[in-house]
Amino acid sequence: MSASRKEYKRITTNTLIEMKQHGEKISMLTAYDYSMAKAVDAANIDVILVGDSASNVMSGHETTVPITLDQMIYHATAVIRAVKRALVVVDLPFGSYQSDAKEALRSSIRIMKESGAHAVKIEGGKEVKDSMERILNAGIPVMGHLGLTPQSIYKFGTYSVRAREEEEAAKLLADAQLLEKLGCFALVLEKIPAALAAKVAKTVNIPVIGIGAGSAVDGQVLVLHDMLGLTTEFSPRFLRRYMNLYDQMTDAVTSYISDVKANDFPNDKEQY
Ligand code: KIV
Repeated sequence: MSASRKEYKRITTNTLIEMKQHGEKISMLTAYDYSMAKAVDAANIDVILVGDSASNVMSGHETTVPITLDQMIYHATAVIRAVKRALVVVDLPFGSYQSDAKEALRSSIRIMKESGAHAVKIEGGKEVKDSMERILNAGIPVMGHLGLTPQSIYKFGTYSVRAREEEEAAKLLADAQLLEKLGCFALVLEKIPAALAAKVAKTVNIPVIGIGAGSAVDGQVLVLHDMLGLTTEFSPRFLRRYMNLYDQMTDAVTSYISDVKANDFPNDKEQY
């Protein structure tokens, strides 16, 4: 920790804005269960995202589309039980906010009341303006998400870098400004050119948190299971792996199996 870095006992949406103003980078990771969230929070992460990537990493689905609102609330409730310091943000899953603003508000209220989460995240810009307004008017903090928005995978067709073309880049910048104007407290930018992300982070006053969006933004987010090396089938350029947990786990399980087979476990000290 640098000498000038302020210590925060509890992270709020205001803390994140303060961090941007002071030039302190915001750290964010996903978590979906009690045990993982406890470890991540104990390490002093700033934001925990109960992401709809739970659909992929916890349930083995190919996309984030299948996960339901009830399942998101189940994951969020477990995370909230573990967290003492981090701000906990929960994704509104596909199908829980697109029909109309009333449905978006109902879904957000369920997340906040049933899980105790601190904020919700919604994918999209202008097209979800009414829903965002409705949720924000109810006093629920909203984080935006632009660029690659995985819930729209069947519209895009691929997970490739977004907003490389001028027209899409201009729309993204306009959407970011709109989200700030509506009152979103922060914004995730996923898989867009670093120069565009830098421009967005400079233009808006709310914190911009990137994933595959370069270093000139206000913070970074990764999927926990990816950065721990627990998922092995996914290797985008932006992913830094801090462990090879998959290999370490299979090694540990292999050792356990051989100890059991050899009648070496439990030993004399491991029984009553
Ligand atoms: O669901 C998720 O994990 C996310 C992050 C990739 C930002 O939305």
